[in-house]
Amino acid sequence: MKRILVTGACGQIGSELVKYLRNIFGAENVIATDIKKPSDFLKATDGFHYLDVLNMDELARLVVEEDVDTIFHMAAILSAVGEQNPQLAYRINLQGLMNVLEVARQKGVRQVFAPSSIAVFGPDAPKENTPDDTPLNPTTMYGVTKVAGEKLMQYYYLKYQLDTRSLRFPGIISSETAPGGGTTDFAVDLYVHAVHHQSYTSYIQADTPLPFMYMPDAIKAIVQLAQADDSRLSRRVYNVHAMRLTPAEIVRSIQKYLPDFECYYQPDHRQQIAESWPHSIDDQNARRDWNWQPDYDLDAMTRDMIEKLSQKLK
Ligand code: SER
Repeated sequence: MKRILVTGACGQIGSELVKYLRNIFGAENVIATDIKKPSDFLKATDGFHYLDVLNMDELARLVVEEDVDTIFHMAAILSAVGEQNPQLAYRINLQGLMNVLEVARQKGVRQVFAPSSIAVFGPDAPKENTPDDTPLNPTTMYGVTKVAGEKLMQYYYLKYQLDTRSLRFPGIISSETAPGGGTTDFAVDLYVHAVHHQSYTSYIQADTPLPFMYMPDAIKAIVQLAQADDSRLSRRVYNVHAMRLTPAEIVRSIQKYLPDFECYYQPDHRQQIAESWPHSIDDQNARRDWNWQPDYDLDAMTRDMIEKLSQKLK
């Protein structure tokens, strides 16, 4: 029987990952942890523990007491907040990951999944169809911690045979839990404002392309990679991609369903971060090794987002 611990369980991805994993493996086998106040859903199932990933003793205690064999390490500081406080981003993202890997090694955890990001790429990487193997020269602290994190995970795999796995996620769009402090958050804001207020002012310019993915595809990718037979994996870290979108394209898709919606543009410091990242990602290794394929395109995502957000509003 699998015993799973999720860090960052109250975050944008963590909250939906916990729900999904509990459906597959049973609520009692998925321990949700975070430093944030849990939602009613997490509290109600009573498998919630307050856990700061910087507290290694507490993490080790939980892993031993709960007999954990798999960790999904989702706790992180995102890119925009990371630029406001690079020292904090370094501690949470790198020391936090190092603690998870060390506890996993010492206590015999079998597998650790931790997400990476398109933020590992910098201005010198190819902008279109950026491959897995290309220069990694990020210009944000978030990107620096993700590059170092990928290398740490590879090191623990080679040195200690810890089964580490990672995905370089694009911006993730979702309706359940709001993202916090990322550069790609505007894409979620566009939908929320379209449903609630009819207008939005984007801090990213209309024609700036970025890679995106809808949350159900992101959850599917995590679980598919975690469950893939190790003999099929040619690498520990994979690019994954779903759609290349500009803010203007998302706005046009929303306007098909909500024609009165209007978007204004007022780029801020996050524009520079967005411009340092790729426009689209080559994910052929993931497609070949473990059959990665996204289900949602822009209009399918827009329909689902508007429906889910409208239901919540009611
Ligand atoms: N979505 C993240 C961010 O914008 C990138 O991984 O920070």
